[in-house]
Amino acid sequence: MKVNGKDYLTVWMEGSSVMTINQPMLPHRFEVVALPTHRDTAEAIKTMVVRGAGAIGAAAGYGMAQVFAEAPADEPDRSAYIQDGYETLKNTRPTARDLFYSIDRVRAAADAAAEARTIAAEYIEAGRRIGEIGAELITDSMTVLTHCNAGWLAFVDWGSALAPIYFAHRAGRKVSVIADETRPRCQGSRLTAWELQQEGIPVKIIADNAAGLLMRRGEIDLVITGADRIAANGDVANKIGTYEKALCAKASGVPFYVAAPLSTFDLDCPDGNGIPIEQRGDEEVLYATGLTDDGKFTRVRLAPEGVEAINFAFDITPAELIDGIITERGVIKPVIDEIDKVAVR
Ligand code: MRU
Repeated sequence: MKVNGKDYLTVWMEGSSVMTINQPMLPHRFEVVALPTHRDTAEAIKTMVVRGAGAIGAAAGYGMAQVFAEAPADEPDRSAYIQDGYETLKNTRPTARDLFYSIDRVRAAADAAAEARTIAAEYIEAGRRIGEIGAELITDSMTVLTHCNAGWLAFVDWGSALAPIYFAHRAGRKVSVIADETRPRCQGSRLTAWELQQEGIPVKIIADNAAGLLMRRGEIDLVITGADRIAANGDVANKIGTYEKALCAKASGVPFYVAAPLSTFDLDCPDGNGIPIEQRGDEEVLYATGLTDDGKFTRVRLAPEGVEAINFAFDITPAELIDGIITERGVIKPVIDEIDKVAVR
């Protein structure tokens, strides 16, 4: 996708470095960072310099290829280094299934670097297919609500939830987007709004608690979100607040779709209760960071000193609230039989 008219991917390799866009700096500053070792790549995933299920998957896959390239030639040091690098990447973030999917694939491959490149290319192709397939749900003049950022910044290109919107827009349909701001890290207001603006798609940001009112007023035609992990029964883990949007959509009769590649399905989780939910630091809720009018990045405290916060990064949307899952192999119902037919093992 384009940034100021120039084509970019979210994650790629240059020499032995993983390259990515520094997402915490967006939308205020567009900055590409080089991650020379697997430890740098792991740190970038942990600190959310690179974030979003597919982007984490691609970066972790490349990180695992870095582990193989860095490992000493002789045994037993080589195996020990590879195991240690694998654990370092594995312990960065717990919820997105794509992270584990990628590092396991790269570790098992005969050629780690080639496998990591293949995974990244598959994400691009999956996003493109999700875009083509999902665009069929979007008719002219629709307003689509999305939560968090499930666009190209969350993948390698195209994205999941935003891909159908990009395709509908490029096909000449009028589509506008309502982006939930997505507290506490504001991926909706910072990243989704920026991505859509780059593509010239009309977008308005709403406070997280405004979606219910807009749905009841008939101002939202369709909801599409991404997913971090989808259980065998169709329960979906996605950014905290997704569950509430699904409840509002059901109560208001607004269709609610999830878009995700097949790598996000986890048949080892029978239902949403088996999906680990990341809990992050209090400071993300208690403070806000942004740009002052005179162009300085500043962190300000929002809450009283001494008050603690609860900061779960994801929630579970039960399958019964989801009308369909848009995958690269078509739109499926969130039921075990349909998931079992398409999921990768
Ligand atoms: O904590 P994040 O920003 O990594 O969470 C991202 C999301 O929840 C996205 O909606 C999700 O990854 C699906 S799109 C790849």
